[in-house]
Amino acid sequence: MAIYAIWNNKGGVGKSYLTFQLAAEYARQHPQKKVLVVDMCPQANSSSMLLGGMENGEHQLTQIHTAQPRRTISGYIEDRIRSPYVTPRSGANYVTQVSRYNGRIPNNLYLVVGDEQLEIQSSRVTSATFPGPQDAWRIVHLWVRDLITDIFESWNDENACVFIDCNPSFSIYTELALTAAERLLIPFSADGSSKRAVKALLSLVYGVRRHQGDPQSDFYLESMRYRMSSPEIYMYIGNRLTQMNSSSASAFKTVVNEIGDEIWGVWQTLPQAFCIHPTGAPTPTSKKTFKSMFQYEVNDANTASVVSGSLGIPIASLTAGNKTIAGRTIMVNQSQLDKQVPNINNLVRNIE
Ligand SMILES: Nc1ncnc2c1ncn2[C@@H]1O[C@H](COP(=O)(O)OP(=O)(O)O)[C@@H](O)[C@H]1O
Ligand SMILES: [Mg+2]
Repeated sequence: MAIYAIWNNKGGVGKSYLTFQLAAEYARQHPQKKVLVVDMCPQANSSSMLLGGMENGEHQLTQIHTAQPRRTISGYIEDRIRSPYVTPRSGANYVTQVSRYNGRIPNNLYLVVGDEQLEIQSSRVTSATFPGPQDAWRIVHLWVRDLITDIFESWNDENACVFIDCNPSFSIYTELALTAAERLLIPFSADGSSKRAVKALLSLVYGVRRHQGDPQSDFYLESMRYRMSSPEIYMYIGNRLTQMNSSSASAFKTVVNEIGDEIWGVWQTLPQAFCIHPTGAPTPTSKKTFKSMFQYEVNDANTASVVSGSLGIPIASLTAGNKTIAGRTIMVNQSQLDKQVPNINNLVRNIE
C-alpha cells in the first residue's frame, strides 16, 4: 500500500485538480487495485470533480451532505470526537464508490467525501489533543490513519493506493492528513510566492530552519517526541507550466529551478526525508539525478482542464470537440489533449 498526501502551504497550485487527475488515472492504469481518495479539504473541490463536476458533482455533494447518517469525512471525525482515544473501527461506513455517481470514473475508485463541516469541527479536534491521556496528541493525530486502516480491513486489501487532498492551511486536519500519509507530493506554480510556500512546508513538516534560532512547529516537535514518521517527499510538481513562448518558458524555468535548488538543499542535509523511487533505484548522487527522480512538470491544460474538472471527466477519457458547460459551448482541441494526456499518464507511471 502507499498513502500519498498532496500538499503545499499555498492555495491554487493544483492540489485538488491533480488529486482528481492522478487518482482517476492511477485507477485506470491499475484496474486490479483499489484506489481511495480522502478529501481532507473543507472546500471539497476534488470530491466535487470526482462526483461529476460543477453541476452533477455539486448536486451529489449536496445530497450526501444533507443525508443522515453523514457519509463524509466529517461523519467519521464526529465518531472520533465521541471516541477520541479508542478507535470505533467505523471508518468503512464512510466510503463512497465514485462510479455510482459518475460513470466516467473507473469502478475501482473510492472516496471519503470532503465536507465543509471540517472547519467547524477543527476546534473540537484540537481540544481532544489535551487534557486526555498522556499521549493524546499522538492518538488524535492517527485518526485519519485509523480511518484508512478500517477501510483497508473492510476490503481485505493491503495493496490499495490512497491519495489525500489537503487544504493549504497548516490546520489540525492538515496535520492529521500528513500523519496518515507515507509520501508527499508537492505541487507548486511558477511564481515567487510558491517558493515561499515550499520553504514554509519544509519548515513546518521537516523542521528545516530558515534562520538560526527560528522556532519549530509543534507538529514537527511532537512528531519527533512520539517518534512518528513524517511523509517522505516523493515528488515536487511544477504545475501549469506553459510553454507559450520562449521568454515565458524561461521565466518558468528560473522559478522551477529556484524551488528545485531549495529542495536539493534539504536533500543534502536530510536525505531520510525523501522517498527513493522506484523501489530499488540507486540513490541520486548529483543534482541532475536528484532532479530526475524528484522533480516533475505538468503543463497548463487550458480549456481541457476546465472542461475536465467542470464535467468530472478525467483527462484520459476526454475527447476533442464541443462540450456544454452551464449552457455554454466550449471547444476542446485535440492538440491540448495530445499534450496533457501523456503528461498525466507519465506522471502516474512514476507513482508506485
Ligand atoms: N495543469 C493545469 N492546467 C490547467 N488548469 C489547472 C491545472 N492545474 C490546476 N488548474 C486549475 O487551477 C485552479 C486551481 O487549482 P486547484 O486544484 O483548485 O488548486 P488547490 O487545490 O491547490 O487550491 C483550478 O481552476 C484548476 O482547474
Ligand atoms: Mg484544493
